[in-house]
Amino acid sequence: MSERAQRPDDEPQARPPIVPGEWLGLLGGGQLGRMFCMAAQSLGYRVAVLDPGRESPAGSVADRHVCADYLDPQGLSTLREACRAATTEFENVPAAALEFLARDLRVTPGAASVAIAQDRISEKSFLSGSGFAVAAFTVLRDDADVVQVAASLLPGIVKSARLGYDGKGQLRVATRDDVAAAFATMGRTACVLEKRIELERELSVVVARSDGGETATWPVAENRHRDGILDVSIAPARIGADLAARARETATAVADALDYRGVLCVEMFVATDGRLLVNEIAPRPHNSGHYTIDACVTSQFEQQARVLAALPLGDTSQHTPAVMVNLLGDIWFQDEGQREPREPDWRRALAHPAAKLHLYGKREARRGRKMGHVTCLGGTLDEALATARAIKRELRIPDADRL
Ligand SMILES: Nc1ncnc2c1ncn2[C@@H]1O[C@H](COP(=O)(O)OP(=O)(O)O)[C@@H](O)[C@H]1O
Ligand SMILES: [Mg+2]
Repeated sequence: MSERAQRPDDEPQARPPIVPGEWLGLLGGGQLGRMFCMAAQSLGYRVAVLDPGRESPAGSVADRHVCADYLDPQGLSTLREACRAATTEFENVPAAALEFLARDLRVTPGAASVAIAQDRISEKSFLSGSGFAVAAFTVLRDDADVVQVAASLLPGIVKSARLGYDGKGQLRVATRDDVAAAFATMGRTACVLEKRIELERELSVVVARSDGGETATWPVAENRHRDGILDVSIAPARIGADLAARARETATAVADALDYRGVLCVEMFVATDGRLLVNEIAPRPHNSGHYTIDACVTSQFEQQARVLAALPLGDTSQHTPAVMVNLLGDIWFQDEGQREPREPDWRRALAHPAAKLHLYGKREARRGRKMGHVTCLGGTLDEALATARAIKRELRIPDADRL
């Protein structure tokens, strides 16, 4: 604190590392924040979480929970006074909150990167403007834009520019009339219309980048979605070495182009025609990187804490093949007509000795809500896949045989 008073004009990045024992701040109280807290705490940091919910996955494990809105001046001031540095666990935190904190604290990632990622128009424009291959798209701001939609973009997907996640805020369209209807359904707020790609596979790469521009990527994850929500991530992805190298290089190049600091996820499509396209970016750890906790030397959450504290990056090598299965609230409601949620019998998962169960401490199970995940490890990827299939069957999660 005294250091800050003596050197008020110092760039936050020029400050010395923030050593274990000090306080780190986090905006957001969800499961990504919870896993960040746990990783930062195991490095010896104390964590203060700002989140408006009285009970939240991160708030309940943090050393301190500041219960306030993200733009609440008092809440932000409390965080600023308590902490040496701050990060975020979700991209929809108002950029103004990060800017406010950045006046006094080290903040990673920077508000500018978060602002790009939280708006699909700026995200897509940034990616294509920086030379990355993306699905063909156009911006819809008013009815005139809808009338001018090129036939080559159809069939497509209309995605709201802001606040979409887990497939929410997206509508599939086949004709210009569908586009008009979708734009109306979206309340005529800004959207992108993206050409629908025939997907061979979906991949993601999590990358960390330090102040000095040093980068480290984790192995590529292969992602399967169900109803727009991530269902399973398989790591390493079952792709050739060339494609894997290209995916990792692409993620690094995106982080470089953003001059990014922190942990970033780059989601990609492999089209049936072989093209590798960037789908979207998340300025934080990602669901498809949860496998790094149990299967890599350094997890994405530990790395987030390391970059935030200006410590050296940890080794991202994967030591064990892994398949992560998401646990959605649906499995709390498995019997016909069941109204009240019923806790699944976790012994069924834990009977597999190489299955690592992570539950997020959410009190209320709801369909489609991410309640936890289980990472299945194996001596080989086939073994990990076999365990994932077995656990899916036992917990009655659909598509066990599609892996
Ligand atoms: N242009 C596209 N072509 C084919 N499938 C798509 C396209 N855009 C999105 N999808 C599918 O929808 C999923 C969610 O879309 P995405 O843009 O990643 O939004 P979010 O993850 O924020 O909900 C993708 O993972 C993919 O399965
Ligand atoms: Mg996505």
